[in-house]
Amino acid sequence: MAAAASRGLLVDVHTHVYLPRYVSFLRSRTAVPRVFSRSIPEGGTEERLLILDAEPSGGRPMGPQYYERDLKLKFMEKHGIDISIVSSANPWLDFLPATAAHQLANELNDDLETYCSTSANVRSSSLKQLYGFGLLPLVPEVTTTSLLETVRQISALPHLKGIIMGSRGLGKGLDDDALEPVWAALEKAGLVVFLHPHYGVDGKEWGDKENGHVLPLALGFPFETTIAVTRLILSGVLDRYPNLRMLLAHSGGALPQLSSRLASCIDHDPVVASRLKHDARFYLGKLYFDAVAYGSEELGFVSDVIGRADKFTQNGSSAGASAGAGVEQRRLGSRRMMFGTDHPFFPPLKETDKWKSVLENLEAIEGVYGWSEEDKAGVRGGNALALFGLQNA
Ligand code: URA
Ligand code: ZN
Repeated sequence: MAAAASRGLLVDVHTHVYLPRYVSFLRSRTAVPRVFSRSIPEGGTEERLLILDAEPSGGRPMGPQYYERDLKLKFMEKHGIDISIVSSANPWLDFLPATAAHQLANELNDDLETYCSTSANVRSSSLKQLYGFGLLPLVPEVTTTSLLETVRQISALPHLKGIIMGSRGLGKGLDDDALEPVWAALEKAGLVVFLHPHYGVDGKEWGDKENGHVLPLALGFPFETTIAVTRLILSGVLDRYPNLRMLLAHSGGALPQLSSRLASCIDHDPVVASRLKHDARFYLGKLYFDAVAYGSEELGFVSDVIGRADKFTQNGSSAGASAGAGVEQRRLGSRRMMFGTDHPFFPPLKETDKWKSVLENLEAIEGVYGWSEEDKAGVRGGNALALFGLQNA
């Protein structure tokens, strides 16, 4: 641990698993989402993961790196990752009826606790540590009792530090009044909400050319997150639950780029103008952002936008506040940003030692203009240790 201690720990806040129980369930299904086998030209078969109805290219190949813990630990070792906060990958339980979702959520939360808590026993030479984001049965017609019971279950599992949530909430999005008791319970429990996309935007936008998964992943995913969190802000959830801690996937999608436009649209809209306590830009300083953006300029920009949020504490007092980002503002913003890999997604197409997707995100952090060594160490790990209460890890 000495080397890790001197450079600071590397903590991966955006890393997924399809737990074995979930994979078995997907294998048993004939409707999407499902896992199926097909023959390959080289002979033999491969398993494929199909998680969306209109998914391009017949889904994706699914190897054991999607579900085997030992491969997660090897991946961490190879890339110098000390701690991973592992979350179930999409589409979670979205497609299930309420009773089935509740039962599977509870089983998968217990499975994830075991996955995390017993990892040190398996690789005793490794000091890698695993923590997790649990699942709530976030589906239409679920009862509040069921949701709150699952929040309690997760809170009692020592390695689970939050929940992962998609953009649909209980089927009507994150501005649904029915979610109020859930926000209240999550805030009270101090569980971090990791907001992650799955559906993208209307697939018709992608045209009919074969572009693989590029358009839904590069654009659809971040736009979905942008819309979901914007609706959350507009509904006043962040005013009512100021201590709710929410981590946005993919550096908040397009929200940082669009936040001044959002603020202006709100200011000029008679329906919304006086609804929120603060200028829309204020709320970006209440959120957390992963650093899964693959470029230094993008990370620097996101930190500028987060770091200016406190200039917008009161609705209407913002005139001139957006003028000029300084390095101090950028450094301040970095404290809400955290390294992530999106493993096991984005594997290299050719055999390589380290994954390009990981190296790009590490290099991006290293190259941000204005971030000090301390800021970079914070983004690599210190900020996550603070957010998840792992300072003694
Ligand atoms: N593709 C997915 O379906 N999910 C991810 O998290 C990343 C890529
Ligand atoms: Zn992801």
